[in-house]
Amino acid sequence: MATESVTSAVRAAARNGGDSRGEQTWSVPLSDVLVDDEIEAAVTQALRSGWWSTGPRVAELEREFACFSGARHALAVANGTAALHLALLAAGCGPGDEVLVPSLNFVAAANTIVHTGATPVFCDIRGADDLNISPEDLEAAIGPRTRAVVVMHYGGHPCRMDAILELAAQHGLAIVEDAAHAPGALWRGRMCGTIGDVGCFSFFSNKNLPIGEGGMVVTDDDVLAERARLLRSHGMTTLTWDRHRGHASNYDVVVQGFNYRLDELRAAIALVQLGRLERQNAERGRIVDLYRDALDGSDGLTMAFAPRADVTPAHHLAVLLLPEGCDRAQFRAALVEREIQTSVHYPPIHRFRAYREFASRRALPWTEAVAQRLVTLPLFPHMSNDQVRAVTDAVACAT
Ligand SMILES: Cc1ncc(COP(=O)(O)O)c(C=O)c1O
Repeated sequence: MATESVTSAVRAAARNGGDSRGEQTWSVPLSDVLVDDEIEAAVTQALRSGWWSTGPRVAELEREFACFSGARHALAVANGTAALHLALLAAGCGPGDEVLVPSLNFVAAANTIVHTGATPVFCDIRGADDLNISPEDLEAAIGPRTRAVVVMHYGGHPCRMDAILELAAQHGLAIVEDAAHAPGALWRGRMCGTIGDVGCFSFFSNKNLPIGEGGMVVTDDDVLAERARLLRSHGMTTLTWDRHRGHASNYDVVVQGFNYRLDELRAAIALVQLGRLERQNAERGRIVDLYRDALDGSDGLTMAFAPRADVTPAHHLAVLLLPEGCDRAQFRAALVEREIQTSVHYPPIHRFRAYREFASRRALPWTEAVAQRLVTLPLFPHMSNDQVRAVTDAVACAT
């Protein structure tokens, strides 16, 4: 099977003086996708079918994803942000409500909370090892207007869902799971995204199930699923695909919705990627173990998320905690020198200009203390042992 990673394609283009001239090339990129014959054939078939917008492949993907996750309903959407927006709206969030969310997070959840008209209330993480939302801080943040909590399974490591489920039940809160990092991750045998009221996945190119742009909403709640389904496509009661097949000839609009649909080409890639997900998550886990063996505890370094008996992580990210006082910019620059790409997940949301007004509202001591020390190391399923060694050697030299 002809296989090429995107990194090698970029390097080849640079060598040939192609359109990558002047760009940084990485010996070890942060993430990478494989393009092979199976993916190419799936896309070509979808292309040649002549039906490119939402259609049979999207429907098949929804059936397969529902089966894979164990959810009653799976709705494919344009991206993970759209999934969060639909989930929050379908869960009833709106003006006057508060929604709890960790600040150590990608900004999508906060933005979509604001777009529903609700107010985000930023919560702290558990600590330096567990970068997920703290149930204790979540409880402290609950007020009379709290409507929902968005938990994010950071790096594919499941949150402490027992405490979160209990709090949500006590206070009548909806639980939206941001499982963008966690397709295939298990908490006590249950898949992340199916533990709360509604789960949201992202299929962005650097995620565990990469397709370019795409996402999924999953839920067992029939009413919530129906609301999300309507909102996904302008609030219209039928799809173009239904009318094309003669299953409908007209439509009504019953709510003011959006166009958050997924297309057939991306669904075709997703069907292939879904079949590879479990194997690829295991490969990610193997690489994280190599990192942990080489780095955890040496020179004051820590790999976040010590293994736990009650979970199977999806290992979306390999996150290193630098020693206190270590200059992160200098550390990362030393790795760039060796063509090793790193990232930071995440600059806390309450520190961004658009959210600065929230910075003084609640103290987030763990987030403040830890966020400065986080570095995300390269991680992708087909990473070679030599690439892992290149990273661990470079880290050892940089600290
Ligand atoms: C935790 C988290 N939530 C949501 C999203 C949004 O997903 P998308 O980029 O598919 O809109 C991302 C993507 O980067 C993410 O990392």
